[in-house]
Amino acid sequence: MVDSAMAPQRARCLLVTGGAGFIGGNFVQHWAERHPHDTLVVLDALTYAGNLATIQPLVDRGAVAFVHGDITDAALVSALLADRAIDTIVHFAAESHVDRSIADPGAFVHTNIVGTLTLLVAARAAWCRDGAWTSGVRFHHVSTDEVFGSLAPNEAPFRETTPYAPNSPYAASKAGADHLVRAWVHTYGLPATISNCSNNYGPYHFPEKLIPLLIVNALHGKPLPVYGDGQQVRDWLYVTDHCRAIDLILDRGEEGRTYTVGGRAEHANLDIVHLVCSLIDARFADDPALTQRYPDCPAARGAPCRSLVSHVTDRAGHDRRYAIDPTRIAAELGFEPTETLATGLSRTVDWYLANEAWWRPVMDGSYRDWISQQYGDRESVS
Ligand code: NAD
Ligand code: DAU
Repeated sequence: MVDSAMAPQRARCLLVTGGAGFIGGNFVQHWAERHPHDTLVVLDALTYAGNLATIQPLVDRGAVAFVHGDITDAALVSALLADRAIDTIVHFAAESHVDRSIADPGAFVHTNIVGTLTLLVAARAAWCRDGAWTSGVRFHHVSTDEVFGSLAPNEAPFRETTPYAPNSPYAASKAGADHLVRAWVHTYGLPATISNCSNNYGPYHFPEKLIPLLIVNALHGKPLPVYGDGQQVRDWLYVTDHCRAIDLILDRGEEGRTYTVGGRAEHANLDIVHLVCSLIDARFADDPALTQRYPDCPAARGAPCRSLVSHVTDRAGHDRRYAIDPTRIAAELGFEPTETLATGLSRTVDWYLANEAWWRPVMDGSYRDWISQQYGDRESVS
């Protein structure tokens, strides 16, 4: 495997949008460690999903400059590109949760489409003079496999040539953003790359998404909500592997090219639920202190966490299966995931057990209010 961090690179000045979110925050940590001579500027609106705590140590030691602001603010974005001499934009900022997109699609169109448009317009104004682009600039757009729709059980995995067929408002808004980036490449010659990645998991993941929700709920003895029959399939990638993939694309990815990124790890949701439960059961068996910390967890009284599984009403329009064919990024850039699902999930459970100070505050307040406003108590179907 070739790792871009091994080769000497020119110093870059990166604008990371959404750098206080799950993947963006992990990416900022990755980049600061691997490329200490580069300049990192994070632009993040700190929505409910943003948590400055993820990157605060880097901000405190001056490794990252944090700008609190919205990617749809054209004046702010233009000023940042000029004043900070940005040569690389890594665009993570988005509304990212499918369930929220079903409840409030407008916010997704605004941030994911209008926000991406704002960045593209500003990048062209800053980097292109009389049709000639400044040498060495790059716009990398972080997208999702959800733009390709849903696969039948025996259908070939998504690849770069798969036609777009977004099904949720979230997926449609990401598809719209992808098309805008593609149009800027085709029409104006923007030096851009796009990655369409599968489901990420790992540290700093907001506990409304499946895996961190399972961990936090199990520790508190709360139901583990499984939508429908739980046989929906996702292709799971440990978040730091995604960060390495983006690093490789920035280093050696071909301008104008798209890369599908995945973990070669297709699993049904119910299998993920059972794996997480088994890991938590095992941690409690090994460490009696956990019983004191989380007395409501079934494992604290020797019962299996999977007893908390509760099948609930399915997500509207729920995509049945996602899977990625990562042949291009493997062949052209040497990318392979370093974590398997077993090692990645184990690390993730350990991270949540060791970092309650990160997740406890985001579980309080607005998150809970929002959930109860939108859904009340989901109807139990079994
Ligand atoms: P996230 O929801 O955890 O983080 C999004 C971040 O963007 C937050 O910090 C939020 O404050 C910020 N943000 C939201 N709206 C903003 C705005 N208008 N202006 C500035 N900042 C704003 O998301 P994530 O899971 O880290 O996903 C990051 C990117 O990766 C998204 O573009 C998503 O579509 C894509 N993606 C995610 C996954 C996944 O499994 N999580 C997989 C593939 C692709
Ligand atoms: O595929 C990439 C996408 O993965 C990203 O683009 C999205 O930003 C990211 O949120 C994720 O989307 P999913 O909808 O696949 O992730 P989520 O964690 O919400 O759900 C994973 C699966 O688990 C999905 O089939 C729905 C199901 N689920 C989810 C939750 C939150 C449940 O069964 N119960 C739950 O409580």
